[in-house]
Amino acid sequence: MATATPLQMQNAVSEFLAAPKKLLIDGKWVAASSGKTFETLDPATGEVLGKVAEGDKADIDLAVKAARRAFENSAWSKMTASERGRIIWKLGDLIEENGDELAELETLDNGKPISVSRAADIPLAADLFHYMAGWTTKIDGSTFPISIPRGEYLAYTRREPIGVVGQIIPWNFPLLMAAWKLGPALATGCTVVLKPAEQTPLSAVRLGELALEAGIPAGVLNIVTGYGETAGAALAAHPDVDKIAFTGSTEVGKLIVQAAAGNLKKVTLELGGKSPNVVFDDADVDSAVAGAANAIFFNHGQCCVAGSRLFVQEKLFDQVVEGVSASAKKIRIGPGMDRKTQMGPLVSDEQHRRVIGYMEAGLKEGAKATAGGKKIEGRGYFVEPTVLVNTNPNMKVVREEIFGPVVTAMPFKSVDEIAAEANNTNYGLAAGVWTRDLGKAHQLAHRIKAGTVWINCYNVFDAALPFGGYKQSGWGREMGKESLELYTEVKSVCARIG
Ligand code: NAI
Ligand code: MG
Repeated sequence: MATATPLQMQNAVSEFLAAPKKLLIDGKWVAASSGKTFETLDPATGEVLGKVAEGDKADIDLAVKAARRAFENSAWSKMTASERGRIIWKLGDLIEENGDELAELETLDNGKPISVSRAADIPLAADLFHYMAGWTTKIDGSTFPISIPRGEYLAYTRREPIGVVGQIIPWNFPLLMAAWKLGPALATGCTVVLKPAEQTPLSAVRLGELALEAGIPAGVLNIVTGYGETAGAALAAHPDVDKIAFTGSTEVGKLIVQAAAGNLKKVTLELGGKSPNVVFDDADVDSAVAGAANAIFFNHGQCCVAGSRLFVQEKLFDQVVEGVSASAKKIRIGPGMDRKTQMGPLVSDEQHRRVIGYMEAGLKEGAKATAGGKKIEGRGYFVEPTVLVNTNPNMKVVREEIFGPVVTAMPFKSVDEIAAEANNTNYGLAAGVWTRDLGKAHQLAHRIKAGTVWINCYNVFDAALPFGGYKQSGWGREMGKESLELYTEVKSVCARIG
């Protein structure tokens, strides 16, 4: 496919933004039943990008009904595994083919640099669908010997799709989070009601168009844009939804669990983090410094895995802090659409206030900023990439998820000390370890209570690698084979055959 020129691209995006975006229900684009819309903003300027249908409980009801019909409908339930795989593969292809447009939508809506959305968010989303397409034909069961003395039996298991799935996603990687959720649901033959984050609904709407183009039958994927407290809550509580998959704050994760109790729907949760990033004094200093900076500043620190607690062994402490602080000061900050930008604005006014609040609280509690520490005045939701020292484990900035480009750095002496301190958190999503001693690295990796541990690297994601959290970072895993198991029910079939 020929790549579109920048001018054509802008036209495709402005055309897309010109008309209010609708809900996708039963294969058709419809206005919200209330007729209401909400505005989505460009966080680089605070200006309105476009209007989006404000779905609520009534629309969730319609979408769940459509998903239920589609789940029972032969167009999906009787489709061969191989055909389902081809459609999911095609969706991956369409994401690649429309990559420039999707990247632009993502950057406008979320604020992240266009270089990042084009190189990371979009290709990873396409890759996830390609990976999951291959699984459709490999979802299998087992056969079992039955030890009942008399009679002959044939006993086996089937993995059947769990049914109608509600998926609620956040704004930090809008398209990629949609892909992580939709991939395994579609691969296993479930049907879906997707509720994108109100801050960043645009790429999900475009993904819905591409899903129809790929041949996903009507009602299999329904998309209801709207607010969490209304549309999201209605989906989590809906009595005809069989599973809810959620990514977002730990606080809302707990509300989801309560709402799900009504019909005991299955729940998977991918929640917050306060990930330790541990640099030993035998590490390759340059890569540890670059890795520590990437761990916290990638995506403006708006990552559930952000390496927000940096621990450096005493001998290297000053050198690593200086290096990370120097990197922070060099980051080019600006609107995401500027190709030279390395860090854009935070996603919203709310997140801007929240992150600045944490910076101020840290400094008030006695932390010292060796880089940043302030908001950037003017329009848009910009803050300075920040490194805080003189921190201790009781400070709010060390205990709570900030979800911004703010890292606390603390020295440590021994492996035992750092193993305990790394685990001194309610979270357990990810961790980093930097050392040339691989034995030590793997031993610490085994002691850290987290779903992912990176050794001499950080922020490496792959569709094949299961991802999720220990403790209050969540329930279940996304991506990899593990995610498919969480979208299926196991049925034991036992037949007397003689
Ligand atoms: P949030 O947890 O409120 O939002 C995530 C999603 O949940 C959105 O789609 C939202 O509409 C929906 N939601 C909100 N309230 C709901 C409810 N009562 N029932 C059902 N769905 C609901 O997160 P928010 O407010 O955007 O960000 C607050 C903090 O959450 C961040 O500062 C960060 O610490 C954390 N967060 C973590 C993420 C992660 O990747 N684990 C992603 C986004 C936020
Ligand atoms: Mg919220």
